[in-house]
Amino acid sequence: MSFDRRIRIAPSILSADFADFGAEIRAVEDQGADWVHIDVMDGHFVPNLTFGPQAVSAFRPHVKTLMDVHLMIAPVDPYIAAFADAGADRLTAHVEAGPHIHRTVQAIRDAGMTAGVALNPATPAEAAMHLLDLVDLVLVMTVNPGFGGQSFIDLTDKIATLRAAIGDRPVHIQVDGGITPETAPRVARAGADALVAGSAVFRGGSVDAPEAYGRNIAALRRAAEGATGTMA
Ligand code: DX5
Ligand code: ZN
Repeated sequence: MSFDRRIRIAPSILSADFADFGAEIRAVEDQGADWVHIDVMDGHFVPNLTFGPQAVSAFRPHVKTLMDVHLMIAPVDPYIAAFADAGADRLTAHVEAGPHIHRTVQAIRDAGMTAGVALNPATPAEAAMHLLDLVDLVLVMTVNPGFGGQSFIDLTDKIATLRAAIGDRPVHIQVDGGITPETAPRVARAGADALVAGSAVFRGGSVDAPEAYGRNIAALRRAAEGATGTMA
């Protein structure tokens, strides 16, 4: 059976109400999210601070789909066990976070999670090439990581290069940053199948009015599927 490349929408809870994460996670999942994306930042690899393993562990019981944890931290290796204990399903680490990304990916797998590898905007696709048999996802950052609500950087050539290199391997291409119904078709056409979106999912809604989340998720999915012809 070939790998399921239907579009996945992964809301980033960086744009959720920080006083109500449990309800926000349940709301986006009820409204059609495929995965829940958690942006971990250390104030060192990126100029912002967010969640540690203790927060991720508190999110765990609320996530029924897949807890997709994007680590924007350096170093990574000393924290892998803590995020595994916290219940992360996938840990994605940046190739720029240290000299031994291959060892990091192996350590994530050895800890019982699937591994993703992330590339900053200026990092070439080639940086992921020797990891494609070890990861289940390559994350192409379409903003410089650190904050939600930034403008999309067009890296469709990098996405297309990775898509060709991945071939039949069971590896998702995820994009993160500035993804909207306007930019989604461009990345999907180039080969991205997993779309992270913060502002474009949470805008206009709340836990008391979650239907807007549903409309936003559906609009992203429709825009991406329309570009590739891969309807569910
Ligand atoms: C950026 C984060 C993203 C961010 C996306 O460092 O990795 O996940 O929250 O936010 P939007 O969709 O608002 O660009
Ligand atoms: Zn992210």
